[in-house]
Amino acid sequence: VAEGTDLKAEIRKLCKEKGAIILAHYYTVGDIQDIADFVGDSLALARKAAETDAKMMVMCGVHFMAETCKLLSPDKVVLCPDLNASCSLADSCKAEDLKKYKDEHPGYQVISYVNTTAAVKALTDVVVTSGNAKKVVDQLPKDGKFIFGPDYNLGNYINEVTGRQMLLWNGGCHVHERFSVNKILELKKQYPDAVVMAHLECKGPVLALADIKGSTATMLTYAQNSSEKQFIVATEAGILHEMQRSCPDKEFIPVPPEISESGLECSCNECQYMKMNTLLKIYNTLKYEWPQIEVDPKIAKDAVKPIERMLELS
Ligand code: 13P
Ligand code: SF4
Repeated sequence: VAEGTDLKAEIRKLCKEKGAIILAHYYTVGDIQDIADFVGDSLALARKAAETDAKMMVMCGVHFMAETCKLLSPDKVVLCPDLNASCSLADSCKAEDLKKYKDEHPGYQVISYVNTTAAVKALTDVVVTSGNAKKVVDQLPKDGKFIFGPDYNLGNYINEVTGRQMLLWNGGCHVHERFSVNKILELKKQYPDAVVMAHLECKGPVLALADIKGSTATMLTYAQNSSEKQFIVATEAGILHEMQRSCPDKEFIPVPPEISESGLECSCNECQYMKMNTLLKIYNTLKYEWPQIEVDPKIAKDAVKPIERMLELS
């Protein structure tokens, strides 16, 4: 593109020409959230993908989110600005490993977090997101035997609040696992009246400290409806854009991650995969209608069922 091109205006123009919509997760950069037709957490994005009339959509998030859109809207064109935008959590559960684990545990049903590949979803009985996991699990048979994966922290929390004893996959998100009790305690000293909010992918001791625990949308809605003025936020910092935009009179304090294993302070509480989405890549993906998400029909047939079951139960 020529220097000085107004990418935001060009993107909106292309969307109009092609009948396309832009879906964006709260963890993408603010500029992308500002031009998107719809911004949401993973549950809201899946719902939107299932119900939209648009014939083309650009999913600005990570690969599994675009795959979920395609599974729910197989006849539509789903564009993904960067196919390399993976997810450490989805990567922590390979389909062949899950298959082996299932074979070792006959009689168990599989509950998978939406942060999984289509191949893992195809081995799954019901999908959940952080926004509906408790509600979905509460509706499953009390005497059922379940494997929950891949997020250990979310599964552990759901076991606690539902009284279940699901077998937990030992996966995790490299961003959320870095938030520490120490950093939150330091911030609490500095902001004694602040409400502490944490995503369910954080470790148990962090969740134990949090006043509000949930998905990105749970935290956002709480902040919007609360009379409190200060919030300490333990999740990917992209969410602060919408928090600050919709609550201009409130203060949001991001929790920095703990010192990295190398001993160096990491200033980054950001998901590098979400940050792979850029305005230029969105422009190019719309212009060239590439790269498009395709899912092997044999996998798609089985992978869509547990997502549809989730949408029915939540
Ligand atoms: P949400 O379900 O809150 O959108 O979370 C998705 C995610 O990837 C969190 O790291
Ligand atoms: Fe995956 Fe973590 Fe990034 Fe969410 S923040 S998309 S779980 S790597």
